[in-house]
Amino acid sequence: MQTIRVETASARYPVFAGVQLLRSLRPRLERVLDEEARATGGRAGLPRRVFVLTSPEIWALWSRRFLESFGEEPIVLFLPAGEQHKRLANVEKLARQMAAAGGDRSSLLIAFGGGIVGDVGGFLAAIFMRGIRYVQVPTTFLAQVDSSVGGKTGVNLPEGKNLVGSFHHPLAVFADMDVLATLPDRELKAGLFESVKAGMIRDRGLLRYMEANAQKIFQRDGKALEKVIAASIRMKADVVGADERENGLRMILNLGHTLGHAIESVTRYRKLLHGEAVGWGMVGALALGQKRGSISAAQFKRLMALVKLYGPLPALRLNAERLVAATARDKKHLGDVRRFVLPVGLGNACVVEDVTAEELLEAARFLLSMARAETGERKTARDGRHGA
Ligand SMILES: NC(=O)c1ccc[n+]([C@@H]2O[C@H](COP(=O)([O-])OP(=O)(O)OC[C@H]3O[C@@H](n4cnc5c(N)ncnc54)[C@H](O)[C@@H]3O)[C@@H](O)[C@H]2O)c1
Ligand SMILES: [Zn+2]
Repeated sequence: MQTIRVETASARYPVFAGVQLLRSLRPRLERVLDEEARATGGRAGLPRRVFVLTSPEIWALWSRRFLESFGEEPIVLFLPAGEQHKRLANVEKLARQMAAAGGDRSSLLIAFGGGIVGDVGGFLAAIFMRGIRYVQVPTTFLAQVDSSVGGKTGVNLPEGKNLVGSFHHPLAVFADMDVLATLPDRELKAGLFESVKAGMIRDRGLLRYMEANAQKIFQRDGKALEKVIAASIRMKADVVGADERENGLRMILNLGHTLGHAIESVTRYRKLLHGEAVGWGMVGALALGQKRGSISAAQFKRLMALVKLYGPLPALRLNAERLVAATARDKKHLGDVRRFVLPVGLGNACVVEDVTAEELLEAARFLLSMARAETGERKTARDGRHGA
């Protein structure tokens, strides 16, 4: 097991990554709570009310393992799976269920699920009784390497994603790789693009490791997964520690996300998983990086090969102008300043504010030409199999 410490201006907490964590969750939780009690002078041990927020699917798969270490059952709250349920109405519904079940300021919430459960659970904990303690037990690869760490919580509005939320850090994160056993391949592969991103922006060693060990990673080899997960978490903890509120450095976490979010928004979040959209967005960022000279032609080739290695990404048929128009609504923009994250060499990144609409259009055209070609390649591969 690896323990990574997040230390920001407002919070310090451990992220545990390894196996067999769920099975021993209660004693682990008690240790974390005891430590917190020592630091704050509060009461040690589990509080009177412990709530678990999860989805019916995850609970069906993993409740037995979850409950192994809990003598007395925690109170289970459900959020249906799907981005459409990450909304304020559900936060109110869940808060009422907690109030009705005797939740108070000392209560603890365990967010047990993917990024959606984590974001809603974190936000619920941030505002219930003006803030209660919570822990994250992420169950998707993406949630383990990315969304459970860093304290961003929130929900969507019809006007856009994550438009209502707050910063609220968990007391601890328990990333148990065992639960990834039931995660569909497509979800795993999509999440891996956030790790590719982590390598590109800050960890050349992770890049090299992911180049050399893709097969092991796809086969969910325990050691390989632990290495990638821990390195990705370490990178995020590091960046968030330096810039909790995204005033500067934290922005680099958005590599591939300007065009990635635009792709998600134009396809109404229905066609691609988030990590897949970010994969295409990184292709655009690599093209722009090469054009601007922040990466060399050889580095461009190598990083493109890495993105390809973790593909194939779903094919796309979109209009480049529409895609660029959709980037205008990016939350990273301040007024008219268009922020864009560029890769710098191998394992570094920078934020630029002078990217022109023309340059973005060129990057969008490049990635869309690849995304159209992806259809052709896959079709050929399938035809080949049929022919054999
Ligand atoms: N707070 C942050 O910093 C941050 C960062 C990145 C993404 N996010 C948010 O995270 C969300 C996406 O998270 P996600 O990719 O984890 O998607 P998700 O939460 O929708 O989970 C994906 C699917 O996998 C299922 N699932 C989860 N764990 C499983 C398991 N172990 N076995 C089988 N099935 C399982 C879920 O039921 C769901 O159907 C988005 O809403 C995004 O905005 C937040
Ligand atoms: Zn992301």
